[in-house]
Amino acid sequence: QSVLPEGYSARPLRRSDFHLGYLDVLRVLTTVGDITESMWNDRYDYLLKRNDEYYLIVICDGAGKIVGTGSLIVERKFIHTLGLVGHIEDIAVAQDQQGKRLGLRIIQTLDYVAAKVGCYKSILDCSEANEGFYLKCGFKRAGLEMAHYY
Ligand code: ACO
Repeated sequence: QSVLPEGYSARPLRRSDFHLGYLDVLRVLTTVGDITESMWNDRYDYLLKRNDEYYLIVICDGAGKIVGTGSLIVERKFIHTLGLVGHIEDIAVAQDQQGKRLGLRIIQTLDYVAAKVGCYKSILDCSEANEGFYLKCGFKRAGLEMAHYY
């Protein structure tokens, strides 16, 4: 069972999260770059128009500061009779908040949404170092990631 720590909450990403440390949490994961508020707003509005495809969630601490995030992107296929596949992306928990089962809670939330909207599976790519975390979240090793950078 996984319950958030006292005072913590999970919710969908908001436009105002630009000011609540969202991008800093993502910096735990990888390079974010310099994103101005207007760049943020443009991207947020794009995602909002596709809110049956992009599900971005955040975890906030008792003070409302963002301490974790994760995304589910729902892909609509022809195969498997117009099957839907969930792609789990950009899971990040602030360094000083790791180990409190926030990551597990994020995955459980995205898994719940994926099943609810009708995905027949969810998939993700991760490093070997994170395999143990995803195994604990109920995922199994499957396939091999390939990448072509441009
Ligand atoms: N290897 C093995 N087990 C792990 C690991 C790991 N790297 N990380 C956590 N676990 C275990 C925990 O011990 C815990 O086990 P327990 O239930 O027996 O106590 C269980 O997995 C759940 O751990 P959480 O406390 O929920 O993990 P946390 O909140 O620290 O989040 C995360 C894990 C997201 C990997 C975090 O460490 C992080 O943000 N790392 C940096 C960014 C990153 O690598 N993100 C994932 C990229 S892959 C992707 O986005 C698809």
